[in-house]
Amino acid sequence: MRSMNEPERKPDERENDMTTERAMEGPDRIVSVRERFGFDSNLMVPAFSERDAHVPDLDEAYRFNPEVTLAILAGFTRNRRVMVQGLHGTGKSTHIEQVAARLNWPCVRVNLDGHISRLDLVGKDAIVVRDGRQVTEFQEGIVPWALQRPVALIFDEYDAGRPDVMFVIQRILERDGNFTLLDQNRVIRPHPHFRLFATTNTIGLGNLNGLYHGTQMLNHAQMDRWNVVATLNYLPREEEAGIVLARVPEMDDEAGRQLVDSMISMAALTRKGFASGDLSTLMSPRTVIDWAENCQIFRDPALAFRLTFLNKCDEAERPVVAEYYQRCFDVELRVELRVEPGSDDGDEPEPRT
Ligand SMILES: Nc1ncnc2c1ncn2[C@@H]1O[C@H](COP(=O)(O)OP(=O)(O)OP(=O)(O)O)[C@@H](O)[C@H]1O
Ligand SMILES: [Mg+2]
Repeated sequence: MRSMNEPERKPDERENDMTTERAMEGPDRIVSVRERFGFDSNLMVPAFSERDAHVPDLDEAYRFNPEVTLAILAGFTRNRRVMVQGLHGTGKSTHIEQVAARLNWPCVRVNLDGHISRLDLVGKDAIVVRDGRQVTEFQEGIVPWALQRPVALIFDEYDAGRPDVMFVIQRILERDGNFTLLDQNRVIRPHPHFRLFATTNTIGLGNLNGLYHGTQMLNHAQMDRWNVVATLNYLPREEEAGIVLARVPEMDDEAGRQLVDSMISMAALTRKGFASGDLSTLMSPRTVIDWAENCQIFRDPALAFRLTFLNKCDEAERPVVAEYYQRCFDVELRVELRVEPGSDDGDEPEPRT
């Protein structure tokens, strides 16, 4: 109800308020998975009819992996805690966001890098100015804020979280997920349409393949609390080609498709080389997309390749990569080495004793 001294507001302002309120209640319609995600399924899922500022932007070019999409949808419709695990650059973070974008489900992504602290998640006392006076006030962190709203909270890079932070998250992973703000003496019950997701590169057993420095071992009592774990690794080559062409539509002609096919063969060779221990780096789908985009800039696939991937490789491994390139493109790749393989240039300073 409007109080006496509140100014009369314009009708569109009132409408905005109503939109926010309606969105706060939860999903208000049912949509077809076939229609929204474009794959064969009779599933119907709840969605919001209005978008608010937290709904991620729609990426029309995004291609959904059916199994991962179903897992994420189970999270949204049945309130399952869903973790998406997989190698880097396979589209995990964007996958969850793009599902949310098609359901108009508000979504907040928190990157659990080493700088996120317990206080960021839970909240802290802060000094604020109220009526011209400085007062100390508790400011809610992202977890209590999201818990009370129909919001999907995504913990990105979950395996990079510090142990003290992880135990905060453990509390909301419980079935009823009540969250106690100790310093506030308050128990927060989650909104019925609050949802929780996570993405991770490792499966919580540490950096076994050497690719993911800075990851932590995850507590198994905590892993156990994720109801669904979906895996998103490298896709079949036609699908990966489809993603690259969707991202860089300028390449979608006969010559472009052939080029993309060779690029994916190249990526596949680096992945195989990594698996057999010949390389310590590999090309992710993200790198292939970057390479395709850079081809549009430099108009030279070999130069674009050097700038996108080759320069990230260990110098000692560059000749191996060049050989893969030769196999896929029948072109000799120029490899600049600061130190000739096997040469002992004797320039290194003697260690001081
Ligand atoms: N299926 C897809 N359709 C369209 N674009 C995709 C797809 N998968 C990945 N991409 C693109 O690849 C890039 C990497 O995706 P994203 O950041 O989601 O990967 P990630 O798996 O979260 O990586 P990381 O493990 O490094 O966090 C993004 O630019 C994304 O748009
Ligand atoms: Mg990610």
